[in-house]
Amino acid sequence: MAVGTLEAERRGTRPANLRVDWWWLQPAITFVVLLGFVVYSTWTVFTPHDFYAGPSVGRHYLSPYYSPCITNRCKGGTTWNLVSWWPFSAGILMMPFPILFRATCYYYRKAYYRSFWLSPPACAVPDAHGSYTGESRFPLILQNLHRFAFYLIIPFPIILLWEAIKGLEFGSGHWGLGLGSIILFVNAFLLGFYTLGCHAGRHICGGHLNAFSKGPVRYWVWKQMTRFNLHHMGWAWTSLVFVAWTDIYIRLVASGVIHDPRLF
Ligand code: FES
Repeated sequence: MAVGTLEAERRGTRPANLRVDWWWLQPAITFVVLLGFVVYSTWTVFTPHDFYAGPSVGRHYLSPYYSPCITNRCKGGTTWNLVSWWPFSAGILMMPFPILFRATCYYYRKAYYRSFWLSPPACAVPDAHGSYTGESRFPLILQNLHRFAFYLIIPFPIILLWEAIKGLEFGSGHWGLGLGSIILFVNAFLLGFYTLGCHAGRHICGGHLNAFSKGPVRYWVWKQMTRFNLHHMGWAWTSLVFVAWTDIYIRLVASGVIHDPRLF
């Protein structure tokens, strides 16, 4: 550590970074993966083709980025045709919900505050900014919308599970199991586990009780959510990476680049 830096710390002008380990590695990896995910997700919702592996390839797989399929511009999946006036990609309509949920998630906030804003980049490493105003004013006060985002996202894992079940149909009333079906199921469960471990959801479902004895059902729900909450960071990352992977797989099958193996 340079003598000048320690002297500055002593005078209180700037705290020193005394860490000599690879503290920067975790925020650097977080930065790369999150940025890659944002770039890929943006591309895929603005590329409205090959998001559905349909009868032409003998499958019934819909990309999670386009699910639920509520416009008449969708080519498959559970198409509800609720929106007929939308002239753009159906994926754009669905994106605000997961964006709001993930961007305001308590875990992701920590992750991107550290990796993108360097505020602070790691424990015992000085903040890159001269002042700290917290989340008490605009725009970061909007992070408090997370509890409402929790309500909005609840239907999504259920719909994804329904799409995975529909993916078991191989046409003409025949049912089976393809690798794509397994991927769709895993994706639905990962998003479900991530949602069930939500800190805000855990509080809403039972954490706000002053006495658990007064709400035995809510206490039971709270205990179950706590199991997922313990690994919230893990579910956050696996569900994030897997949703992109699911989309890539379906696009490759839909475009005929790869053949989806059928297990039975
Ligand atoms: S805190 Fe992470 S999803 Fe709610």
